Amino acid sequence: MTASPTLAVQLAPHHSKGLLLRNPVLWAAGTFGLDGYGAGLSSNVDFQALGAVVAKTTTLKPRKGNPLPRVAQGQGWLLNSIGLQNPGIEAVLKEKAPIWAAWQVPVILSLAGESPEEFGQLAQVAEGTPGVAALELNLSCPNVAGGLDFGQVPSLAAQAAARVKASTSLPVLVKLTPNVTDIVAVARAAEGAGADAVTLINTVVGMALDPERLQPVLPGATGGISGPAIRAIALAMVFKAYRELSLPIVGVGGISCLQDALELMAAGATAVQIGTATFADPTLPQRVVAGLGPFCARRRLASIGGLTGAAHRERPSSTSPSTSAEALKTSKR
Ligand code: FUM
Repeated sequence: MTASPTLAVQLAPHHSKGLLLRNPVLWAAGTFGLDGYGAGLSSNVDFQALGAVVAKTTTLKPRKGNPLPRVAQGQGWLLNSIGLQNPGIEAVLKEKAPIWAAWQVPVILSLAGESPEEFGQLAQVAEGTPGVAALELNLSCPNVAGGLDFGQVPSLAAQAAARVKASTSLPVLVKLTPNVTDIVAVARAAEGAGADAVTLINTVVGMALDPERLQPVLPGATGGISGPAIRAIALAMVFKAYRELSLPIVGVGGISCLQDALELMAAGATAVQIGTATFADPTLPQRVVAGLGPFCARRRLASIGGLTGAAHRERPSSTSPSTSAEALKTSKR
């Protein structure tokens, strides 16, 4: 193959505007720069090379966040309970969106409301703001009262998505929680209400004890676990959702190298988000982007989109190392 492989992906194929991204690598909500809105990244961090960035979850009113300490970490995991600290939507649209409007990379704004009506209100406020390319509804924060309800009750997820769809002309992604028996039931409800894509998964509820005091580290006892420890959970949920849904899936959870991103796509993701790993290495997302073209070339894929769902289509045989799944195992990280 001589032509360069196509890295572009479409995240909202049924939306009138679509959400065509130049590649399938996104920066995940809550992890983008010092403030979650892209501040303080050093000049070697080429976030504009990504398909999109997701700005921190923003609420109608400013939120101070949860009491300290808000994080704990161990081998392969980070526990957080930030509590959706943010300056509120008016301030974000006034102070941040003009900066985003000058970027080449599309910014997806994450929103969280306390009721379906408030989700709709947030979308209405953001409507028409230059610099906001799409919305991601956070129906899955485990660290605020009612934050998980939207993602655990299909009818609530549907109501939130429907209110937003009625109030916005932008594509709408819905970020769901793995803390459910059946994530597909919730995704279906959101799809039925008009969501353009689902983002799977947010953090897994967990906790840490202080080894000396043998008391919870976090004041609220539990928080959300992210990092490599949840990657297999994300993989399983994306795999299942791909089988049962028809709308695009954005896979997120524990990606810490190119191989992890490729595997989530093979499981069924059209695009991936990278979050926790960027705290240690904010250049990781751009390096994953840089690895996609060579991967396609090695696999003779004309388009990275050809990888989505590969794990459903091919079963590696023990004698043939030439299938996509085998190639994934041996691809460079
Ligand atoms: O506590 C937090 O702000 C976490 C948000 C989330 O996981 O969505």
